[in-house]
Amino acid sequence: MDAPKALDINDLSVTLGGKRILQNITFSVDVGDFLIIIGPNGSGKTTLIKAVLGLVPSSGKISIFGKPANRVGLKGMVGYVPQKFEFDRTFPITVSEVLDIALGKELREPLKRKQRIGSVLGQVGMADYAHKKIGTLSGGQIQRVLIARAIANQPKIVFFDEPLAGVDIKGEKSFYELIRNLKEAQKLTVALISHDVTVVNLYADKVAALNRIMVAFGSPKDVLITQNMEKAYGQGFGIFKHKECLEKPQEELTQQDIERCKLFGE
Ligand SMILES: Nc1ncnc2c1ncn2[C@@H]1O[C@H](COP(=O)(O)OP(=O)(O)O)[C@@H](O)[C@H]1O
Ligand SMILES: [Mg+2]
Repeated sequence: MDAPKALDINDLSVTLGGKRILQNITFSVDVGDFLIIIGPNGSGKTTLIKAVLGLVPSSGKISIFGKPANRVGLKGMVGYVPQKFEFDRTFPITVSEVLDIALGKELREPLKRKQRIGSVLGQVGMADYAHKKIGTLSGGQIQRVLIARAIANQPKIVFFDEPLAGVDIKGEKSFYELIRNLKEAQKLTVALISHDVTVVNLYADKVAALNRIMVAFGSPKDVLITQNMEKAYGQGFGIFKHKECLEKPQEELTQQDIERCKLFGE
């Protein structure tokens, strides 16, 4: 028998408030893959992740590492960074307390908990911030704490829902590199929703282009063709070209910019 897929979705449909949101979605992701999910606003990206996590009702079959998602006991196996993480910045909670809450009842022994918290903070480059109040951190630092929180229970697959809304472009690059490094070091499988199509070529093993249905699924090379992008985003897809391609003088483009600009025949 083949080794189980990290994520296997078969004929998934979701109806919310009497409205069909997702229709007949089928795809699978190999263990250790970096999946990036793209699609316009309202295309059902968040709903797809919520369906996988059992947060909205769905029909069809969802398996995680070979087990039906509704029976996996998703805690522990799955990490999740939701699209909106809102909290009161004046709430006097420290970074390590946030992680302590995330650990929950796992790992009861205080010394081991402390070690685990230190270790995940180290992995996201936040070891020196354990005792800082979360409200004093920058957006990028909070992002790292959220990643640490998502991997605290050593999950095998982590879902990120548009993790970079509000983080600047420089933060963006190191964020994706951090995720890729974690993925490689921990053999994690990562499924990430991105509003930025241009990062797909650089980081994704697989890409899912969604617009209520699965418009295209596969390698970035196969999916990122104009025909698919127009199906997902409509005509005028050109507005998604990265702004560095349009604004920076040619001689100032970095290798990463050039990679991005190569998309869609630029
Ligand atoms: N609980 C709900 N009830 C009814 N409609 C919903 C609900 N949640 C989301 N939707 C609708 O489903 C569509 C897809 O939403 P969403 O998955 O958030 O899209 P995306 O994350 O791609 O922007 C939107 O039209 C949204 O209004
Ligand atoms: Mg969304």
